[in-house]
Amino acid sequence: MKGIILQGSSRSDGNTAKIVKYLSDKTSFDIVDLSKKDIGHFDYEFRNRDDDFLPLIREIVSDYDTIIFATPVYWYSMSGIMKDFFDRITDLLRTEKETGRMLRGKNMGMISCGSDSLLQEGFSMPFYESANYLGMIYLGDVHTWVINDEISSEVKQKLDDFSKKLVR
Ligand SMILES: Cc1cc2nc3c(=O)[nH]c(=O)nc-3n(C[C@H](O)[C@H](O)[C@H](O)COP(=O)(O)O)c2cc1C
Repeated sequence: MKGIILQGSSRSDGNTAKIVKYLSDKTSFDIVDLSKKDIGHFDYEFRNRDDDFLPLIREIVSDYDTIIFATPVYWYSMSGIMKDFFDRITDLLRTEKETGRMLRGKNMGMISCGSDSLLQEGFSMPFYESANYLGMIYLGDVHTWVINDEISSEVKQKLDDFSKKLVR
């Protein structure tokens, strides 16, 4: 499977980035740092149609069959950067339906990165429900955390198991 990891942290070299790098090394999946992209909020008048969202999603649907959303846990939810990306998928349903249809049959996975091992119930719901809505196959998710800049052996094991599902 050719895969891409969308990194949704507010910092490019933080904890989520460490997890993303580890998973990318295991899977050879490409990485896109969404914080480096100019992707505006959803706009009903599509005033931001010329920002980086459409070129990025076109590249994703044409070149990859697996998309991994990697988000820090911010206030029990996905990051705002990640949520903006999801909201903008609405552009495809309204103005670029052919690109939206190309998401069908692709695989989706999710990685969360929090401050410890506790992840509140329901965190993954927006991801698997969005996959369902878009006709994508949800491969599952893994919760991670980074303590003192180190990925623990427990988290590495979880990522190793997850990566096996991704590179079958
Ligand atoms: C705005 C903000 C909100 C946070 N909210 C939570 C939270 O609700 N639950 C949690 O476990 N950690 C929370 N944290 C901690 C981060 O999830 C944790 O430090 C994570 O590893 C940060 O990843 P990053 O370095 O990629 O931003 C929060 C951190 C920030 C900056």
